[in-house]
Amino acid sequence: MCGIVGYIGHRDAYPIIIKGLQRLEYRGYDSAGIVLFDGEDTQLSKTKGKVEDLKDKSKATISTKGKLGLGHTRWATHGVPNGVNSHPHYSNSGNLVIIHNGIIENYESIKKALVERGYTFESDTDTEVLINLIEEVKEKEGVKLGKAVQIALNQVIGAYAIAVFDKSKPDEIVVAKLGSPLAIGIGENEYFIASDASPFIEFTNNAVYLEDEEMAIVRLGKEIKLRKIKDDAIAYPNIQELQLNIEEIEKGGYDHFMLKEIYEQPRAILDTYRGRLLANQGIIRMAGIDQNLEKFLNANRIIIVACGTSWHAGLVAEYIFEDLARIPVEVEYASEFRYRNPVITENDVLIAISQSGETADTLAAIKMAKERGAFVFGVCNVVGSSIARETHAGAYTHAGPEIGVASTKAFTTQITVLTLIALKLAKEKGEFTDSKFHELLTQLEGIPAKVEKTLQSNVLIEQIADVYKDSTNCLYLGRGYNFPVALEGALKLKEISYIHAEGYPAAEMKHGPIALIDDQMPVIVIATRKGHYEKVVSNIQEIKSRHGKIIAVVFEGDETVTQLADHIIEVPETSETLSPLLTTIPLQLLSYHIALMRGCNVDQPRNLAKSVTVE
Ligand code: AGP
Repeated sequence: MCGIVGYIGHRDAYPIIIKGLQRLEYRGYDSAGIVLFDGEDTQLSKTKGKVEDLKDKSKATISTKGKLGLGHTRWATHGVPNGVNSHPHYSNSGNLVIIHNGIIENYESIKKALVERGYTFESDTDTEVLINLIEEVKEKEGVKLGKAVQIALNQVIGAYAIAVFDKSKPDEIVVAKLGSPLAIGIGENEYFIASDASPFIEFTNNAVYLEDEEMAIVRLGKEIKLRKIKDDAIAYPNIQELQLNIEEIEKGGYDHFMLKEIYEQPRAILDTYRGRLLANQGIIRMAGIDQNLEKFLNANRIIIVACGTSWHAGLVAEYIFEDLARIPVEVEYASEFRYRNPVITENDVLIAISQSGETADTLAAIKMAKERGAFVFGVCNVVGSSIARETHAGAYTHAGPEIGVASTKAFTTQITVLTLIALKLAKEKGEFTDSKFHELLTQLEGIPAKVEKTLQSNVLIEQIADVYKDSTNCLYLGRGYNFPVALEGALKLKEISYIHAEGYPAAEMKHGPIALIDDQMPVIVIATRKGHYEKVVSNIQEIKSRHGKIIAVVFEGDETVTQLADHIIEVPETSETLSPLLTTIPLQLLSYHIALMRGCNVDQPRNLAKSVTVE
């Protein structure tokens, strides 16, 4: 986690770094820091809290001049969030300065050795250890900064994206990457460094994404030089033209990114199937699948790995793949999968789902599956992300940047991509008739308009939120395709409103959770008229007999559940397969409003970060 930003060029670095840090706050936001260098002196400002706090502190305490700067927004791993542990960190001499995103796993043994050799430490961080190791190497070996960074990194175990400068070299920043993302924006006689391209998108469209185990010397007036950290081999920078635009990463009139992103879903789903779903011609075109069709068709099984919301999308996909394409699917938490010595064969296809494309556990699961011979396919949102590059093939969700920590449009666009894949494979396998295939394609084409209609329930949902905003617990129930939606609804509520919530398959309620039900317990039930409707109705009866409060998400025109429930939220009717794309929307809005009414920071909930780049 953590976001890093750097600048070297002809402009004042301060506003670029501060704005950049604000754009990267989704990566961590418990403390922040900035260092500015005017060629002679450095100015350092660090604080616990948000970038806004850093801005206030910096204005009051330091000179904001300097054409070179580094900034950091932190999600604490080693050491509590406070000013001292915030980055940037100086080396003991005060000559070298570092920012770091990642974890140095063997920092304790390195620190012990450095202490024995007279080094002292102010913070509890692994990062301060790394900068002093670099300093020691530089002095002992009599080498330049770039070489010292390289030698030091060959001694560390862990993950990093770092930017380091030396006060004796005012025109140079050294960067390196392993496991954490790092992009270099290339402007006219200026360079930008950041965890993703959002901090520099208004200045340049040209960027280089460092590969793992690569480092670069970023020197003014010189082209970027890339080297492999391990063997010093020269690597050639692949300069990419960025597609991102500035409007996409601003709030665009909404109070919060989460709300904006919820409302973007009709567009995001449409963009995700645009050019792929050709309903008129009865075709689904997906390059990543077309080119690897045999792998999918001959697969023993599909293993889906992901974390959090992406894992929920994987569960929906399990239902879709097995139901439509009749391919066995297993869905695994990446963090469990990678450590449990799973049986993986060359005939397995592993699908990794990740919005950010940077989730450490998912990335590690991919690497393991590749080593064991599986074909690995990625479903990612962030173009050029580590997972997108690490997989053999893939399909992007075209959701656009998701900044709110709570995943919303990522979930529905992931389901859209996975549905397209399942439909395509089902068709290729001859699992259903042309007319059924065509009907599902047409229904999928109609989803954006139905999401739009569902969003019109916002005011009603806000009223329901007002009734339940002070609840301490909440239960979410669904069956079949909508069981994962129940899990996702519960995750949304707990992560942004801090209300304890559980998602369950409705039938499992009797095996335990029913004991929790009383007149204080709101139970959100997804009860669409397709699938196991009658069974869900029975579950609702059981809740009602125990005086639980029922909020039901139903298809328009529902009569049975409408009579039983305390609150009804209607979504337009669609096929059972596609229903999660609609039923999930009210649950997102409900969480949003409840969190807002409880005074929670909706976009940046406590203790969380958008991309979990540490395990
Ligand atoms: C969901 O709202 C979360 N913020 C979180 O569970 C997220 O989905 C998870 O960390 C996985 O992230 P990824 O999709 O970027 O891999």
